[in-house]
Amino acid sequence: MLKIIEFPHPTLRHKSKPIKRVDSQLRSVIREMFDLMYAANGIGLAANQVNLPLRLFVANLAGKQDEGEEIVFINPVISRERGNEEREEGCLSLPGLYGFVRRSTSIRVNAFTLDGTEIDQEVSGMLARMILHETDHLDGVLFIDRLSETGEITARDTIETFKRNFEDQARRDPDLQPQNIEAHLREWEARYC
Ligand code: NI
Repeated sequence: MLKIIEFPHPTLRHKSKPIKRVDSQLRSVIREMFDLMYAANGIGLAANQVNLPLRLFVANLAGKQDEGEEIVFINPVISRERGNEEREEGCLSLPGLYGFVRRSTSIRVNAFTLDGTEIDQEVSGMLARMILHETDHLDGVLFIDRLSETGEITARDTIETFKRNFEDQARRDPDLQPQNIEAHLREWEARYC
């Protein structure tokens, strides 16, 4: 059973290696990721956010199962970044925290979908922003790393609260011990990367 992990869980800082194979277990992981994303009212969810070191994210800009289009981006690569704009973002791994982040307004994205089809698209607007946010996750980068100085000051207290809560949990939960997280990530990497 997967669940969405919250900042500052160390897996959120893991830089994922490309995925080399897809099997039925990975397909069910992806289905579960969509379900978790919808339940949390998100539009994108990266594998790091469910404690998996896999270079993929799921997305549906409609945020609802029976609306919009479900897309799985496997091994995404971003290029041709153009323009920039500051907009408010949030993240399912930092629930309740929002902040303005400056990002490119248009990008090219290359990736593979679950059935092996290649994605090669120029995208812009909210889709581009979501892809940049989720691809950041796969590199261990969070939107709070990209806040302006003012945004950082505003977010500081909430970020400290997340850190304290995690420390409390980590004291009680063996799954949150660094060596156990490390072993878990290595096991999944050995299987798929
Ligand atoms: Ni996020």
